[in-house]
Amino acid sequence: MEVIWDADSQIETWQEVTLVYNAALKQINTKLEILNDEFQHVHQYNPIEHIKSRIKTPESIVKKLKRHGYESNIENMVKYVNDIAGIRVICSFTSDIYRIAEMIRLQNDIRVIAVKDYIRNPKKSGYKSYHMLVTVPVFLSDRTVEAKVEIQIRTVAMDFWASLEHKINYKFEGNAPEHVKSELIECAEMVSKLDDRMQQLNEEIKAHGNVI
Ligand code: GTP
Ligand code: MG
Repeated sequence: MEVIWDADSQIETWQEVTLVYNAALKQINTKLEILNDEFQHVHQYNPIEHIKSRIKTPESIVKKLKRHGYESNIENMVKYVNDIAGIRVICSFTSDIYRIAEMIRLQNDIRVIAVKDYIRNPKKSGYKSYHMLVTVPVFLSDRTVEAKVEIQIRTVAMDFWASLEHKINYKFEGNAPEHVKSELIECAEMVSKLDDRMQQLNEEIKAHGNVI
């Protein structure tokens, strides 16, 4: 069977876009659930707190294409918008993030296209998260499409911060007052410290064995 890279995917209608990317999200979701179950079985511990996924709305896809100077058509959507399918994986500890990223990387049918480690290199805003752009095969009746999925992996604390920061930026349309911005940066530093201390505590507890 012919394998088609999604930049040349023969996806021609919005219905097909939804179908393919929804299928891709299901694939990744299932993979993550299996990894989490197996991890529970082997280590008696769940690295994943919860998973959220979404398909980007047609409105925000069109907005993004416009922002990058591309005409709005299906071909450009599939080619240039990397986050039509998005998954957010929320973990307890920073170490879980790298563990999950590695487990995803080791899956034979997943191809990692790009990684952005905003934990080691946080954004100027204070944003922290681990981003992976991957492709996963979607098997259709007459062809296989390698569909792109953006995976964001972060701790509960990073997610708490990112949600509030997003809300604030939305309210102020990206122009939040300076004191709000610097307050957010300070909170981001507190989030990092909290994550580090919680992880240290967890290591200590683990060293005692038989807990969690
Ligand atoms: P987008 O055009 O926003 O998709 O950015 P990009 O293509 O440069 O990718 P990047 O990896 O930087 O960001 C992708 C996604 O990460 C965004 O759509 C947000 O969900 C999230 N993100 C990135 N930066 C920030 C930030 O400063 N604050 C918050 N709250 N979320 C962010
Ligand atoms: Mg995005």
